[in-house]
Amino acid sequence: MTDTLHRTQLSLPGPRSKALFDAEALYLAPGTQSVALFSQLSIDRGEGAVLYDVDGNRYVDLLAGVGVASLGYAHPKYVAAMQRQIARVHVGSFTTEHRAALVKLLAELTPGDLNRSQFYSSGAEAIEAALRLAKSRTGHTEVIGFWGGFHGKTGGVLPLLGSSFKHALGPLMPGAYLSPYASCARCAFDKTFPSCEWHCVEFLRNKIQLETTRDVAAIIVEPIQGTAGNIVPPPGYLKLLRDLADELGALLICDEMITGFGRTGKMFAIEHESVLPDVLTVGKGFGGGFPMSGVIAREEIAFSKPWARGPARGACPPPRRQDAGGDEALGNRAADRVGRAGPRPHARDGPRRPRDPPAGGQEDRTLDLRHAPVPRRARDDLQSRGSHQSTPRDRRGSGDGRPRHHEGRAQ
Ligand SMILES: Cc1ncc(COP(=O)(O)O)c(C=O)c1O
Repeated sequence: MTDTLHRTQLSLPGPRSKALFDAEALYLAPGTQSVALFSQLSIDRGEGAVLYDVDGNRYVDLLAGVGVASLGYAHPKYVAAMQRQIARVHVGSFTTEHRAALVKLLAELTPGDLNRSQFYSSGAEAIEAALRLAKSRTGHTEVIGFWGGFHGKTGGVLPLLGSSFKHALGPLMPGAYLSPYASCARCAFDKTFPSCEWHCVEFLRNKIQLETTRDVAAIIVEPIQGTAGNIVPPPGYLKLLRDLADELGALLICDEMITGFGRTGKMFAIEHESVLPDVLTVGKGFGGGFPMSGVIAREEIAFSKPWARGPARGACPPPRRQDAGGDEALGNRAADRVGRAGPRPHARDGPRRPRDPPAGGQEDRTLDLRHAPVPRRARDDLQSRGSHQSTPRDRRGSGDGRPRHHEGRAQ
């Protein structure tokens, strides 16, 4: 064993990998993920969860393109569906049977009346669209995010990035405020849950009261913070944020790019809390590697203008889910498996950092969908929120007496 490890360490990267890596490095601009830079591997192909480098070495890929390759590599049905679709039509906004099937499927998979989907290319783009929707719906301008939060790196979301990445990239778009997340293992206030009595939420309330103009369009939150180290907030946290958003006449946007489609044991992580956000953002594994993200909005807010007026993008009709991998490979069954297995102990499951022991009251929701299929999601156990409270913009209306959100449809 030691001998094998010794040999393996000495031979990586192999000569072909290294030569190709060096050749590319002459022209490649910075920006590649550190795992690729450190390993200096040149990948030839992938199959399932296994990657092969150009020297013929095999690796079990635990990274999966940072949660993107949800079907693994070269799933035969995925490959066939992509080939078929590209040979038919690969760009454009016209209705296709596949897009029609996809939006219906998403409406079935998501809880409550999260029934209206629109598609984008990247996660950040979808978040920006969600923020535009929040501003359109509420008539408000400010946004609340969280320390440790990650929603992409474009200009519109950079201020919501709760890390040092944004240093030296200012000035940032105004109107964003960040507050400590309920990261109990590393509480920003050195408190302990539950005796803290939700100090971080109380702090957020004070922050909004004292720092904002109380014109909050949205609270945007990852139900589990992924990039920050898979931080699972205590149960009840999302509900408190839901209540706060309602009090402010703001939308609650849950960013499920990392946690969506069964990766935490439910189809969506919000279902652990039975909380219904106004907007759900999806990406990463959503396209299984095809660059695709989405905004899924509640029926009653999705038609708010100006959001509803503008085209989203020249959206490519994605392959039908059934075509791409069948139930077996895609979403449902996989997520179903995870859900049946239920939340599992945190140990060894995620890139949890050394200072991240499970905090009091924190249920574990693992970010791994490979092992298990679930009951079809219980849509009905969600708290039903039939009507969103009216907002200043609703009350202002559109000038023709109708509420703004009924004015138009997305193009
Ligand atoms: C929760 C979350 N939101 C948004 C994004 C941004 O997605 P993209 O890199 O596709 O812009 C990421 C990317 O890691 C993410 O983890």
